[in-house]
Amino acid sequence: MKKVDFNQVLNDYNEVLPKGVFLTTKAKGEVNTMTMGWGTAGFIWNQNILMAPVRKSRYTHQLIENSEFFTVSVPLNGQLKKELQFCGTKSGRDYNKVEELNLELGEVEECNVPIIKGNDLHFICKIKYQQDMVKENLAEDILENKYPDKDMHTFYYAEVAAVYQEE
Ligand SMILES: Cc1cc2nc3c(=O)[nH]c(=O)nc-3n(C[C@H](O)[C@H](O)[C@H](O)COP(=O)(O)O)c2cc1C
Repeated sequence: MKKVDFNQVLNDYNEVLPKGVFLTTKAKGEVNTMTMGWGTAGFIWNQNILMAPVRKSRYTHQLIENSEFFTVSVPLNGQLKKELQFCGTKSGRDYNKVEELNLELGEVEECNVPIIKGNDLHFICKIKYQQDMVKENLAEDILENKYPDKDMHTFYYAEVAAVYQEE
C-alpha cells in the first residue's frame, strides 16, 4: 500500500460512496464493518475531515462510541458487491461478518482498527467531533422520508490521518 493525498482521491470517493463503502470499527477487541452510503468529505479546522453518519440502531454505533478511530475502505472498481450487500443488511449483533465473509483485514500504523483488504482506497479516521441529529432542526420532508422511525444519525467527524491506495 502507498500513501496518497486526500484531495487527489476526493472525487473518486464521492463518486462511489452512494454505492457503498466499508465503515470498520473495533472496540474491546471486536472488529465489525458495515456498509455506508452517505457522508461528506471536506476541510474544517484546517484538517481534512471525513464525516460518517451512523444511525443509533446500528451495532457500529455501539462500537464507534468506544473507539477513537474508524477506517473506511472503498472499492472503486465494483468489487466486493456481495460483501457490501451482506454488511449493509446484516448486523454485527447477529453475525461475525469478518468470519462469515472471510474478509481479509490489514493492519495500519496509525491505529488498531483494521482496513478491509481488496478495496482500492483506505481512509484512516480519528474522531474529532460528534453530533446527534436534532430532529426539530431537520427539514420536514427529509424527516418524513428518511426517518420514519425517528432512528436518527449521529454524525462522526474525523480527521483523515492517512489515505492508503492498494497497489
Ligand atoms: C448501500 C447501503 C448504504 C448504507 N448506508 C448507511 C449509512 O450511511 N449509515 C447507516 O447508519 N447505515 C447505512 N446502511 C445500513 C447499514 O449498513 C446496515 O444497517 C448494517 O446492517 C448495520 O450493521 P451493524 O449493525 O453491524 O452496524 C447502508 C446500507 C446499504 C445497503
